[in-house]
Amino acid sequence: MVLPDDVARFVRATGPGHTAVQERMAAFAREHDFPNIGPESGAVLRLLARLTDADTVFEFGSGFGYSASWFLRGSADRVILTEFDADELDQGREFMADAGLAERCVFEEGDAMETVGRYDGPFDVVLIDHQKERYADAFDAVRDNLAPGGVVAADNVMRGPIDFDALLTHVEVQAGSGEAAGDTGNAPATANDQTRGIADYLDAVGGDDAFETAVLPVGSGLAVSTKVD
Ligand SMILES: C[S@@+](CC[C@H](N)C(=O)[O-])C[C@H]1O[C@@H](n2cnc3c(N)ncnc32)[C@H](O)[C@@H]1O
Repeated sequence: MVLPDDVARFVRATGPGHTAVQERMAAFAREHDFPNIGPESGAVLRLLARLTDADTVFEFGSGFGYSASWFLRGSADRVILTEFDADELDQGREFMADAGLAERCVFEEGDAMETVGRYDGPFDVVLIDHQKERYADAFDAVRDNLAPGGVVAADNVMRGPIDFDALLTHVEVQAGSGEAAGDTGNAPATANDQTRGIADYLDAVGGDDAFETAVLPVGSGLAVSTKVD
């Protein structure tokens, strides 16, 4: 949790509960120590699908469909799930069939970065939740294929396989604010590849005039960027 425990408990308690199939997905994730997006961020995905009246959602890194199930709860007409682990995708097919949602899913096995090249969009919502080093490339791959008012959400921008303190220094240097104000240089140069990947991603969306970005400290931290022109 990025939020203080009591705040996170508040958000969870006031948010939507799991459906029966999502509860099974969550149990499966716990059993296999699989990092899905969690219910607090899931509620945000549901909201994004609902607010954009989403026809098409594209996901980079779908696992067995937990995040997709939230978009579908938000009435997305279609979710394109990408996953290079065939077993995870098969498990996703099973869960979606059990939930009666399979006909609104397109299951794409393979590298999401290649799969996305086969789609022209328009995408109403895109979830980036695969390899952190490739987030900025994923954004490049979809930015022109987003519908006007479309949204890109990127998970793990505050937590996961990243060095939060190095990232905090980086974003404060970029913003010229906070304790790091006045520092120079690329703070995460010494951090791991995943941290640099998230830093590059935040620089890319933050520096793109066609997008407005807000980071929500739910789950592992979601950066939500709306296309405004
Ligand atoms: C953090 S999990 C995402 C789970 C999913 N979004 C959810 O919350 O339920 C990341 C998943 O992305 C997959 N993945 C990573 N890089 C990928 C790539 N380049 N193409 C397809 N899948 C990828 C991994 O196998 C893993 O299942």
